[in-house]
Amino acid sequence: MTPADRRTPPGPPRRAAPGILRKLRADRLGLMSEAVREYGDAVRVAIGPKTLYIFNHPDHAKHVLADNAANYHKGIGYTEAKRALGDGLLTSEGALWKEQRRTIQPVFQHKRIAAQADVIVDEALSLVDRLRAHTGRRTDVLDEVTALTLGVLGSTLLDADLGAFESVGHSFEAVQDQAMFEMETLGLVPRWLPLKGQRAFRAARADLERIVGVLVEQRKANPIESGDDVLTRLIASTAKEADKRVGDRRMRDELVTLLLAGHETTASTVGWTLNAVSRHPDVRQRLHDEAVSVYGDGRPTYADLTKLRYTHMVLQEAMRLFPPVWILPRRALEDDEVGGYHVPAGADVLISPYTLHRHPRYWPEPDRFDPERFDPDKPSDRPRYAHIPFGAGPRFCVGNHLGMMEATFIISTLMRDLRLEHVPGHEVKPEPMMSLRLGGGLPMTVHSWPDARRIAA
Ligand code: HEM
Repeated sequence: MTPADRRTPPGPPRRAAPGILRKLRADRLGLMSEAVREYGDAVRVAIGPKTLYIFNHPDHAKHVLADNAANYHKGIGYTEAKRALGDGLLTSEGALWKEQRRTIQPVFQHKRIAAQADVIVDEALSLVDRLRAHTGRRTDVLDEVTALTLGVLGSTLLDADLGAFESVGHSFEAVQDQAMFEMETLGLVPRWLPLKGQRAFRAARADLERIVGVLVEQRKANPIESGDDVLTRLIASTAKEADKRVGDRRMRDELVTLLLAGHETTASTVGWTLNAVSRHPDVRQRLHDEAVSVYGDGRPTYADLTKLRYTHMVLQEAMRLFPPVWILPRRALEDDEVGGYHVPAGADVLISPYTLHRHPRYWPEPDRFDPERFDPDKPSDRPRYAHIPFGAGPRFCVGNHLGMMEATFIISTLMRDLRLEHVPGHEVKPEPMMSLRLGGGLPMTVHSWPDARRIAA
């Protein structure tokens, strides 16, 4: 293709840049949604020295994330994410990423994850008990779910009780808040300024390093014989680094990454699902009926999971409307062509599951919550890449089985045992941070079902 033939995607004029910058801070989801509504599946947005290429077609997502993934590294926001997470599996590239993925992937295989079902069921049942203590009253269910997902990661991946570290949840929030602030301000606010967020960031990152340091020391002192858990594998892999400090840093980065990547996304999936379901009593009733018919009064087991067909459909639909990872930023290494448009080397490319999952061509009435879209018995000619809550290609989520198993157990157990009502007048606003947070939390009123029985724990 000669330079003259190169097609550039349409987009707002350069003079719109100040307004776009403002919107980038105030309403990122609105900005992305308006861009694709106005200009179509490929949009070029120039802001100062930066040019963003937004692609919103399943074929584009397939090309960038999978078919030509070798031409893309992680993009916008990842410099900031790296500051929070270092060089862990989510942020690393090239040979280091390959080595890290090879080390960690086996721990996330289906059968290994299945062995963790009991731990998750225990946690889900104790969540029910804690919430039941609030019967008739309002409580923030999201706080409880977030503590649960962090605790599950501690016990399933690290065999450690993270509940013993009170500050951990708060520290994860502080590092993310600052990373997000730096992304919104395009890194223009110097880090040496003694701002509150900077100080909180440093303290929080140090706290997380301290916590994972304690976990590593504990494991070194008490090795696990089978030796194939995350910590033992990481200890062995990072011990190969010639420089011990490099090995120690990698270990800390990897652990902080796994804990963050694994708990917020799963909590967000559960939170958005509960929010949607509480606003659709017919869906809530069907979920309850399904959970009662599959579990009865008994304790949920791994074998039950495949029978929870409707629960699975509801989760898929909630992740369609509110994908916990709402944006997949990439940077082109070499010139490329996406959907017939030229993408120059160095360009920032954005694929947003949030807008892709609401593409009107593939999702009629895209803003409507309708789990029937995912009925496996209804034929659908929807392309595979129209729904990518776990990403795609080589950087596909390594924890997807764990995340789905956890979300399914938590939702089905809660639905069987409790009737959760949203608080009238309280709107939950999506906050697109590193994950799609539930702005204002998730206050709910807890009730029993009329047919409630005491469930065997
Ligand atoms: C339902 C919950 C989850 C959702 C929706 C989710 C979503 C995603 C997405 C979309 C990506 C791809 C990011 C990209 O390509 O830029 C990703 C990557 C990743 N996820 Fe998850 N995730 C979930 C649960 C988990 C869990 C439980 C863990 C376990 C610790 C985890 C660990 C990771 C890691 C380490 C990566 C980076 C993989 C790589 O680059 O090789 N995730 N996740």
